[in-house]
Amino acid sequence: MNSKRAMAQLLKHLACAGVTHLPRVDLQKPTMIASRSKSPQASASSSAKSAPVTAYTSAPVSVATARNEARPAVSPVVKEMRRPPKVILSADDLQSANSNRPPLLPDVQEMMGRAFSEVQGKAEALSVLAKVVASCQRCSELCSTRTQTVFGVGKPNAKIMFIGEAPGADEDARGEPFVGPAGQLLDKIVEASQLKRKDLYICNILRCRPPGNRNPLPQEVSNCREFLDAQIHIVKPEYIVCWGTVAAQNLLNKTEAVGKLRGQFFDYHGIRVMCTYHPSYLLRNPAAKKQVWDDMKFFMQEFGVELT
Ligand code: URA
Repeated sequence: MNSKRAMAQLLKHLACAGVTHLPRVDLQKPTMIASRSKSPQASASSSAKSAPVTAYTSAPVSVATARNEARPAVSPVVKEMRRPPKVILSADDLQSANSNRPPLLPDVQEMMGRAFSEVQGKAEALSVLAKVVASCQRCSELCSTRTQTVFGVGKPNAKIMFIGEAPGADEDARGEPFVGPAGQLLDKIVEASQLKRKDLYICNILRCRPPGNRNPLPQEVSNCREFLDAQIHIVKPEYIVCWGTVAAQNLLNKTEAVGKLRGQFFDYHGIRVMCTYHPSYLLRNPAAKKQVWDDMKFFMQEFGVELT
């Protein structure tokens, strides 16, 4: 790994851990594939070997695609590792996400004015809302690239809601949040924490997949917030876990990265909110699993469960 790339990765880890005001390192696009004339096989094996090193850039893949070369099968975990690094939101981004909200849709406005106490009523309201979401055209790029919307899944009267960032490729294909590699890791965390996925309600900040799993744009967050608010209103959880910086910052309107927000409860309209690292981050940085486990121990104490 060259020193510039190593420095970029180090800076990215620091940013994800909550360190701010870091310098930028501009990486040149890897040129090894483009600049060398190789047989498709040689090129394929070279990109397979370099996958972990180039985990945070899709440049070698796009170069290979442009040249119509055979590409090696990429494992879901490597794909997950290729998610672009998360960028911490600035106060301006947050302000823009909060101030450019579209007018509430009449159906959603009506739901926000109603109290839902029975599980049946909650289930019906969520199903109406899912249909509204499925026809949403607010984000022109996202609705032209999505396979389908990914609304949310789980118990309509869940005590605990999980909020992630946005659907990835697997979620876009299946229409359900957290079903890809990050979701599988989330499932392990859930089980180890003595929780059951079927007892939770799981959704995201966005209901459409950003192309290439890029960060949600402030306007997209703003466009989708009405739906998140309505899901929270209907389910009325007692606890929310925000997985990752994007969920934590946008829900709580904070500019700090998740590394600075973890280890405590925040109050969000009477709901106790805990923030921890995103499972995708853990796939790239397994060392951070310890912190997530500490967070889950802290969280489960609320329910009288002592995790060891
Ligand atoms: N990552 C997320 O934040 N949400 C999903 O649904 C899947 C991956």
